Amino acid sequence: MYVCICHAVSDTQIRQEVCDGACSLREVSQRLGVATGCGKCGKCAKRVICETLNELAAMENCAELGAPA
Ligand code: FES
Repeated sequence: MYVCICHAVSDTQIRQEVCDGACSLREVSQRLGVATGCGKCGKCAKRVICETLNELAAMENCAELGAPA
């Protein structure tokens, strides 16, 4: 789904940037331009970033415990 209409950025692209090391809206904005136009997508983009960071943390915790994610 498109999160940022102004720059045609999808949630998948945002998730990929987080997987590649971005961990804040500022970093994702610098890489993809999200929230640098009208700004209406900022809240949704933050939610996608947060969800992805939480998923990555959960996967990391499972890996440390030797359990499947
Ligand atoms: S919808 Fe993202 S800047 Fe306008």
